[in-house]
Amino acid sequence: MKSWMRRTLIAVASLAAVAGATLAAGNALATRKMQRTVDVRVAPVAIPGDAAAIERGAYLYATRDCADCHGADGAGRTFIDTGQWRPTSRPAAAARWRATPTPRPSSAR
Ligand code: HEC
Repeated sequence: MKSWMRRTLIAVASLAAVAGATLAAGNALATRKMQRTVDVRVAPVAIPGDAAAIERGAYLYATRDCADCHGADGAGRTFIDTGQWRPTSRPAAAARWRATPTPRPSSAR
């Protein structure tokens, strides 16, 4: 065999071996990560329900911009409604959509 051919063959075989080893190592690491068990300690959280706590919550809701996304009464807000998702091609579904009061639950979208 000509020497340049042999050198090319060795280079290609070496690259293939390195690529194979890299894939095998990556696969082994990914599998190990997927199969690991993470211990999460679940501890009950005390949720106060007294008038002072409720007033504090309303204050935080109002001052931390929660209403920006959740609406003034917490019912949610519509951000984008292009009308493109509406099932206009199916009359029964379209009628159901029109009958659903706004703000619509996400399952009605
Ligand atoms: C930028 C928009 C945005 C702001 C501001 C925001 N939220 Fe949310 N919030 C969301 C979205 C979106 C979800 C739904 C996430 C999901 O279901 O994965 C959510 C979910 C929640 C939930 C869970 C509701 C459920 O039924 O599981 C609570 C509670 C909540 N938000 C409270 C708050 C409070 C309190 C604030 C203010 C401190 C706040 N959010 C500010 C967008 C926002």
